[in-house]
This record gives sequence, C-alpha cells and structure tokens, in this order.
Amino acid sequence: MTTWSDITVAPGTLVKGVWRGGVYRIERLLGEGANGRVYLVRKGNTPYALKMGFDPLDHQMEVNALLSLSRQSASWRRFFRESDDAELDGRRIPFFVMKYIDGVNIREFLKRKGSMDWIYVIGHNLLSRLAELHKHGWIYADMKLENILVYGYAGVELIDYCGLTAKGRAVKQFTELYDRGTWNAGDRVAEDSYDLFAFAVLMLAATDQTRKLHSFQHMLPQNRTVDMLLEMARENPHTARLYGWFKQALEGTFVSSQQALALWRKLVLDRNMRGPRDTGIAAPWLKVCFAASIMLCVGTVCYFWLA
Ligand SMILES: Nc1ncnc2c1ncn2[C@@H]1O[C@H](COP(=O)(O)OP(=O)(O)O)[C@@H](O)[C@H]1O
Ligand SMILES: [Mg+2]
Repeated sequence: MTTWSDITVAPGTLVKGVWRGGVYRIERLLGEGANGRVYLVRKGNTPYALKMGFDPLDHQMEVNALLSLSRQSASWRRFFRESDDAELDGRRIPFFVMKYIDGVNIREFLKRKGSMDWIYVIGHNLLSRLAELHKHGWIYADMKLENILVYGYAGVELIDYCGLTAKGRAVKQFTELYDRGTWNAGDRVAEDSYDLFAFAVLMLAATDQTRKLHSFQHMLPQNRTVDMLLEMARENPHTARLYGWFKQALEGTFVSSQQALALWRKLVLDRNMRGPRDTGIAAPWLKVCFAASIMLCVGTVCYFWLA
C-alpha cells in the first residue's frame, strides 16, 4: 500500500495534477484525519482545500462519492472541484480539490459567539444539509465534531465524505461515540435514522459543558444505553427544550430526516413548548437569524426543484 505520510509538503510547494494539469500552490496544513491530510492551496488568487489521501482505495471511494453527489446536486457541484494524482518526492499521491471553508468546529463557533443559542440555528442548517443528502439516496454516516465546519452566521458544511454510504448498505466508517450500534440502539445500516441518531449525539457533544459525554467514551459498549443519552438531553438546559426531538432521534422513531427537520423548526420557534429549566431563545436577533436561515433553506430547495 502506498503511504506518503512521512513526506512533508512545505508551504510554497506546487502540486501539479498529472492527468488534468491543474497547479495548486500549498499555503498551509488545514488538518489531518484518519484518511488524509488537507491543505489550504491557491490557484491564482482563489483559495481551495486540497486533500491527499493516505490510502488510494479509500481516497478513490471518497472521490467517487463526491462525484456522484456533484452529478446529483448543484450545491455539491460547487463544493467539489476536481481530482488527480501528483508526483511528490518521486511518489504518486492521489488528491482532490474542494471548496475552502473558512470555518471552525461547532464547539469553537459557540465559544466565539458567546451564546449557546446559536446551536438552534446550526442544528437547523445541518439537518437541512442532511435532509438534502438523504433525498439523493445517501447517508453521511461519520457524523462528528471534526467533520463539520461552521462559518459566518451559522453556515454549516460537511467536509469529509469518507463515510458516505448508499441507503440500504452497511455503514463502514463511523466513530464509536456517535454510532447507534455502539449504544445498542439499532443496526449499522444506512438509513435516515442512522444519521439522525449521530446528529443527536453531536448536538449533545457540542453543548455538553460537564464533559459527561466524554466520560462515556471510556465505558464498555455493552454498558451503554440510549437512556444515558436521554438523561443528558433532559439535564442540559440547551437541549431540554428540544427533548421531544431528542427522544425521537435517539429511539429511531422519525420516519425521515424531513420530518425531523420540521419538528426541530417547530420546537425552536414554538414559545409554548419550552422545557422546565428552559429560557427559550434569549436574543431577538437570533430569532431573525433563524428565520433568515429558514428562508435561505427554502430558497435553496426552490432553486433545486426549479433548476
Ligand atoms: N474543505 C475544507 N475547508 C477547510 N478545512 C477543511 C476542509 N476539509 C477538511 N478540512 C480540515 O482538515 C481536517 C481533516 O479533513 P478530513 O476530510 O476530515 O480528513 P479525514 O478524512 O482524514 O478525517 C478537518 O477536520 C478540517 O479541519
Ligand atoms: Mg475527518
């Protein structure tokens, strides 16, 4: 298996596509995960993110997934640019180029904004993105803090497509903490409810001030239960007002992600459905943001249907 993880790709290095001829100048490393390294690059003045895969087969699967998505949807066509191979230090390394997202993970975004209320807008936008993915027949599968970037006024982007799985297939790439199989809450089968479970854990992880979720990581999978997560959702004032939503997502009773999105929207906007210790959305400007993000989402859907 080709591995190049010991090669240093210094700033200023030119990465040239062997087949398509695209030339990208490396600026800096953006991040690294289990499957590859992602660099901030420039072509002319335009910034992009360029991912080099550690394992050619896994990398090709991610490229194939992104290619399928970009054939199906205008928003992924804008996200994925091209794929190619580069010669670096005498080794051939597969890479692909995507839109650069100038964002941070959800926890960092909430910290910078100084208000947990943003989680309602982030949750809404991420659920919309998931619903779009599901509509095209795919499940994201590897939902976790590291794979989602938040930018601007709670714009959300999924950035790692290694886990993308066609509906009905077995889920191959997942992270234990977010995986319903590990929580004895269902099979590892690609269906809307698989992603909704992981999304619920993600929301708990993003708003958990007590590090309780972190402590579950050390627990044996056979001892984990959905009730532990439900208790967390009830105790956390930021998720308590959406308790009904969390119960359905964690118990797998939503029929679709569209239904989950509709309930999220309803609970966040409905003043009468506050939890016992809940303060509601405190800032009026955030309600405006939330309404604006819904309009934007509806606009995107209309654009999609009319296109
Ligand atoms: N399009 C992008 N824009 C900005 N940063 C990105 C982008 N894609 C990835 N990154 C950064 O690189 C890190 C690793 O990328 P990722 O695709 O998740 O790799 P892996 O598949 O190995 O987990 C991410 O956590 C993120 O910080
Ligand atoms: Mg990742």
